[in-house]
Amino acid sequence: MKIFSGIQPTGDKHLGNYIGGFRQYAATQELGEAFFCIVDLHSITVEYDPRDLHDRTLDLFAMLIATGLDPDRSTVFAQSHVTAHAEASWLLSAVTSFGQLGRMTQFKDKAEKREFVSAGLFTYPVLMAGDILLYRTDRVPIGDDQRQHLELARDVAERFNARFGETFVVPEGIYPEVGARIMDLQEPTRKMSTTGGTEQGTVKLLEEPDVIRKKFRSAVTDSGREIRRGDDKPGVSNLVDILAVATQRTPGEIEVAYDGAGYGDLKRDVGEAVVELLAPVRQRYLELRADEPELLRLLSVGAEKARAASAPTLEAMYDRMGFVRLG
Ligand code: AMP
Ligand code: TRP
Repeated sequence: MKIFSGIQPTGDKHLGNYIGGFRQYAATQELGEAFFCIVDLHSITVEYDPRDLHDRTLDLFAMLIATGLDPDRSTVFAQSHVTAHAEASWLLSAVTSFGQLGRMTQFKDKAEKREFVSAGLFTYPVLMAGDILLYRTDRVPIGDDQRQHLELARDVAERFNARFGETFVVPEGIYPEVGARIMDLQEPTRKMSTTGGTEQGTVKLLEEPDVIRKKFRSAVTDSGREIRRGDDKPGVSNLVDILAVATQRTPGEIEVAYDGAGYGDLKRDVGEAVVELLAPVRQRYLELRADEPELLRLLSVGAEKARAASAPTLEAMYDRMGFVRLG
């Protein structure tokens, strides 16, 4: 079984990324041959500072290892180190529907918010399809917000296979059962995000324990007093989900355990559980990040492995599409 996922080196990573992303990656690497890609090429599709891109790529690489990816077992690498990704993206643009790209809600949301909308922001899902398809991926662990992009990747694979012959595996998503959408603690009807959320409602992975405790203490709850999940209780539902993930219980078990307790108890306990969950991650991250030569060495190892794994697929694409190859 082949597993592939990608994550952008943008924004400070937060608890939503941990629960919907990092945690899943570490768990899914056990399922088979896994590839985890820092998608630096994707992050140039919106306004960015080149100096930030450099540092954030190394930050994210350290974070992926700190959250449990094992670079000996899995292939952890940067997208720009493997030129096959940019090439595959161009080839696949021939079998991607312009209309379908225009229906991507992430594109519409992001385009609406800015004056300059790059062509790359529009074609972003084609690059993502290439990332996945190059490794003949079976499963893609992602958050809920990436469902539509994965659907497009599946359509692209099917269209290519139908037109040029069976080349790609049609991948399936793996979505977290609990925590696919962690919400902002202050505005629990929108997802936690360092770009679209509130500062007080977003828990960053490297924040000091006391800051994290405070953010949970001031989390917005709902009317009523019962600790249960429900559409009418977005704030409490979110806290229950977070506590469930942080203490490895089900949300149902949390509801039973907190029957009769107050919102104050819940908020205190979630804060404490998250501090405990993140403390070792932070510690490992700081150690790894301090050793840049070692990070670069591990990145080269990842790039080598990813090049070897993707080259045959890219070659098959060129060949089936009719390009002259020089042997
Ligand atoms: P990004 O940082 O946007 O590249 O996202 C990295 C991963 O984290 C993706 O798999 C997202 O689906 C996931 N993710 C981002 N925000 C959240 C959230 N609020 N709740 C759950 N998962 C999230
Ligand atoms: N678009 C994804 C996000 O914003 C990142 C990504 C790029 C990705 N390529 C991928 C995720 C391939 C999974 C597989 O989160």
